[in-house]
Amino acid sequence: MFFKKSQKSAIIDYNNLPTHIGVIMDGNGRWAKKRGLPRSAGHQAGADALKKIVTECNNMGVKYITVYAFSTENWKRPKDEVDFLMNLLLSYLRDSEKTLAKENVRIRAIGGREELTEEIREQIKKTEEFTKNNTGIVMNIALNYGAREELVMATKKIAEDVKAGKITTSDITSDMISENLYTGGQPDPDLIIRTSNELRLSNFMMWQASYSEFYFTKTLWPDFSIKDLHNAILEYQNRNRRYGGV
Ligand code: FPP
Repeated sequence: MFFKKSQKSAIIDYNNLPTHIGVIMDGNGRWAKKRGLPRSAGHQAGADALKKIVTECNNMGVKYITVYAFSTENWKRPKDEVDFLMNLLLSYLRDSEKTLAKENVRIRAIGGREELTEEIREQIKKTEEFTKNNTGIVMNIALNYGAREELVMATKKIAEDVKAGKITTSDITSDMISENLYTGGQPDPDLIIRTSNELRLSNFMMWQASYSEFYFTKTLWPDFSIKDLHNAILEYQNRNRRYGGV
């Protein structure tokens, strides 16, 4: 099928899917407020929406999805909200053995582990181990994640290698930096979706997002549907990615 430049295809091209999708799942609190519910209800609804989106991405053939579940800045929220989010993540990871793991999803957590409770750290290890041989989509759950902290961590690792004499400073390349991030070995996100009408990156995958296409929508995360995902992918497929070339 041919399209004039001004025409946009409304059919998803399965040969041109984003390999890696990043998602900033924003608007849970506003979703709850609109309904007179506590913020926790918004987060619960957000976790339900996430399950549907990961399943659909996996079914479509997307290879990687990275979801921003808890940032290094989210510790500033009231203690009861932080506790609720941590418990939600814990049960999400536990339940994933019966849900996403059965769908061949490989689950990983990215972000600093030291600040997490022993219980969550153990559950992450268990879930990663349980799903490590799955060959479907790789789901990175960004948990206690911040791009600046990630770059500091990578810089320290490389500096240690220089100090140990394994490499010299002139050996440092941008690929080396990529390899030392939590997402080392994975392709950069092709598409980053942010919901709830906020137009910023908020310390999410700053290095990896260099050539990502951005899709912003007013839809609040708990309302983000499979149709919304398809619309984001269609818009992505109608972009002209030039990577700085012509
Ligand atoms: C931002 O919305 C959302 C978060 C800080 C948490 C994201 C968590 C989930 C979607 C559910 C849990 C995820 C997993 C993996 C189980 P907000 O609370 O800042 O919303 P607001 O801007 O409307 O207040």
